[in-house]
Amino acid sequence: MRTNATRIDRATRVMPADAEAIDAAVRCLAAGGLVALPTETVYGLAADATNGRAIARLYDAKGRPAFNPLIAHVTDVAAARRLACLDAAAERLAAAFWPGPLTLVLPLDRGSGVSDLATAGLDTIAVRVPDHPVAQRILAMFGKPVVAPSANRSGHLSPTTAAHVLADLGGRIDLIVDGGRTAVGVESTIVACLGEHPLLLRPGGLPRDAIERALGAPLAPVSEPAASLRAGDTEAPLAPGLLASHYAPNAMLRLDADEVRAGEALLAFGPDLPHGGDQATARLNLSVGADPVEAAANLFSHLRTLDRSGATIIAVMPVPHEGLGEAINDRLARAAAPRPGRG
Ligand code: TXA
Ligand code: MG
Repeated sequence: MRTNATRIDRATRVMPADAEAIDAAVRCLAAGGLVALPTETVYGLAADATNGRAIARLYDAKGRPAFNPLIAHVTDVAAARRLACLDAAAERLAAAFWPGPLTLVLPLDRGSGVSDLATAGLDTIAVRVPDHPVAQRILAMFGKPVVAPSANRSGHLSPTTAAHVLADLGGRIDLIVDGGRTAVGVESTIVACLGEHPLLLRPGGLPRDAIERALGAPLAPVSEPAASLRAGDTEAPLAPGLLASHYAPNAMLRLDADEVRAGEALLAFGPDLPHGGDQATARLNLSVGADPVEAAANLFSHLRTLDRSGATIIAVMPVPHEGLGEAINDRLARAAAPRPGRG
């Protein structure tokens, strides 16, 4: 394998997720390569978490600012304990939800072996145990932690199919392991367990109420005073990746639409179309049955399809905030946020 090829002339192999692909993925990771693989949330772009060169290439392939740290993926809680310190709340959440769509931000164990580049120099580390047989198999065979941001160019929509990954990162990464459509469709929920109270940093594939039930207490919101958001005295923001404008399609999004205006595409939710809905230039429904789980699974894929339809504005019907609705509304708000150089 050519591990020193420049990023744009690298041939990207796509393989169905069979034993041969898993083998190829493990060899590629060991050689410092970049492998897109399925998790239950979205596709991740995997690299050896202990290999600084590999991680530098990963940031480069994504066009990701290097101050935005990565999630270390491991097979189980025992492996997580070798990277970080889990307090009682973290142990409880890990027992309740791992493997699954939950990432814990924890005090970093200095002997973890994870590259400083992966943690962006923070004294904390984000750790997750994915619930996907292909990801699990690759992690088990590789035997080391793997960093895996969503497998998209920085600022783009997260990929829920191998085709999305290829469209975004083809020619920039070594291998895509195609495990079909991801089941959850939005990224993991991120909870920091760094102080007295666990904090919700990013709503995601695990609904807040499930976490609060497991903790027996409400999760502190992310807008808590900054002092409680930091482990140690680092000046870095706790959730540096949570930029307002993210997940950006080319089209503008008009949220909470109760009508469709001339020339707009429609992202619908539920059984009833809004006024003008039958005139939409393109139309997709997140969930005709108004099921937030189905809506989350369809979200990024439908946004991509409507974006490709050439519409300049996508009207988005309101999605209730309950359950996965919190994560869906978070991603829609980021996709709709004003971006530099755009109206
Ligand atoms: O579902 C997921 O979490 C997917 C799959 C592939 O596992 N991964 C994913 O990674 O969404 P990424 O890199 O797209 O998002 C990770 C987020 C970023 O917003 C980053 O800033 C934050 O986690 N993060 C990572 N390490 C952190 C830390 N030590 N403290 C606070 N936030 C952290
Ligand atoms: Mg991402």
